[in-house]
Amino acid sequence: MPADADAVAPSEDDARPKRDADSLSDRALAELERDYKDLREQAQQLLTDRMHLENEVNAQKDKIRRLDEDIRTLRTPPHVIGNVQDIIDDEHIVVRSSNGTVFLVSVNRRIDKGSLKPGTRVALNQDTLAVVEVLQDAWDPLVMGAELIERPTTTYADMGGVEEQIMMIKESIELPLKDPDAFRHFGIDPPSGVLLVGPPGCGKTMLAKAVASSTECTFIRLVASELAQKYIGEGGRMVRELFDLARERSPAILFIDEIDAIGAKRLDTATSGDREVQRTLMQLLAELDGFEALGDVKLIAATNRPDILDEALLRPGRFDRIIEIPMPNEEARKAIIKIHLKGMPKTRDVSIKGLVEKTGGFSGAELKAMCVEAGMRAIRAGHDRASKADFTKALKDVKNKRDTGAAGEAPPDLWT
Ligand SMILES: Nc1ncnc2c1ncn2[C@@H]1O[C@H](COP(=O)(O)OP(=O)(O)OP(=O)(O)O)[C@@H](O)[C@H]1O
Ligand SMILES: [Mg+2]
Repeated sequence: MPADADAVAPSEDDARPKRDADSLSDRALAELERDYKDLREQAQQLLTDRMHLENEVNAQKDKIRRLDEDIRTLRTPPHVIGNVQDIIDDEHIVVRSSNGTVFLVSVNRRIDKGSLKPGTRVALNQDTLAVVEVLQDAWDPLVMGAELIERPTTTYADMGGVEEQIMMIKESIELPLKDPDAFRHFGIDPPSGVLLVGPPGCGKTMLAKAVASSTECTFIRLVASELAQKYIGEGGRMVRELFDLARERSPAILFIDEIDAIGAKRLDTATSGDREVQRTLMQLLAELDGFEALGDVKLIAATNRPDILDEALLRPGRFDRIIEIPMPNEEARKAIIKIHLKGMPKTRDVSIKGLVEKTGGFSGAELKAMCVEAGMRAIRAGHDRASKADFTKALKDVKNKRDTGAAGEAPPDLWT
């Protein structure tokens, strides 16, 4: 029998298992393909998840870093503040710490040695007191706020009957700032300060306002009572800072209103509060005499009580000029009334001459009050112009108020 007879002619029985096997492997393949697809999808999903998680980890790491930083800031000990007193060499300086003790300390190498001068404010490490930072000099907020940013709108033209005083203040304050050569030519020192005196409500504060609005230079104004401080040495320090600020911003005009609050006569029997006020005054005198010339800094002070001022303040050389603004006389009253009635519609029978005659002894503030009151009466009555009757009643009103002691005071809002 030939050897390959079986192979050549396969029987029907042989073919069936082969077909079975084929369909089996087809199915397995399809299954595998499905599995593969599933797995691929899963892998994709896992990749996306991983990316998400990685992002999350990064965000958390950021958060940790921020919190770490916060913790570090919270844990850093406070620095002690001190003032440089003396520079010994490149690495050592003498500082006075805020509680008054003086130390010899070393300076961090990073710090620019040029920025360290006697008087500079520095931050010191709490343990070693080494200088770790140079601080900006800070002005007292009260001193800082005294610089006038918005100029008042009052001008010389708004003032009546004070032509001579206006001329004097222009001469002593504006001229030296504008034309210092004129004074040099005659070999005289220009005056460094003027004192405005006069009864209440006659225009002292107003005149200073007019100076402020007419000059370009820095204007610093303060009411002296703000200088009377609670703590020992504070008032003196503020006076010094005021003058420092003025010198730094020069040309500058420094205006101290109601100076009697710190300039009253020094008495032997004084409380500790009085002594503090006197120290403030002495600092002011020292600044006026100053070893550092005032130069382009001019001082204007005002008071309605020159009688209680310390003689030292009035000595020549301090306030070189004392400008008196007296109660307005007839002519001045006419000018003031005209100014305040400029924009007011009046009936014909209102005569300025008549008003001037009836207002003998009125201050500028009282004259203004009378005009305002007359206008108010006309408004209240629904008239379109103020009548003689309105003025007569207004006049009586102001007189009554003065008799009860309520008129003549300057309004409390000095600079608005
Ligand atoms: N010469 C004047 N011309 C025009 N108005 C004046 C004049 N004097 C005073 N007044 C009016 O009176 C108001 C008060 O004046 P001011 O505040 O200048 O008085 P003062 O002299 O500073 O008084 P005090 O001593 O009480 O501080 C001014 O706002 C102004 O309306
Ligand atoms: Mg005043």
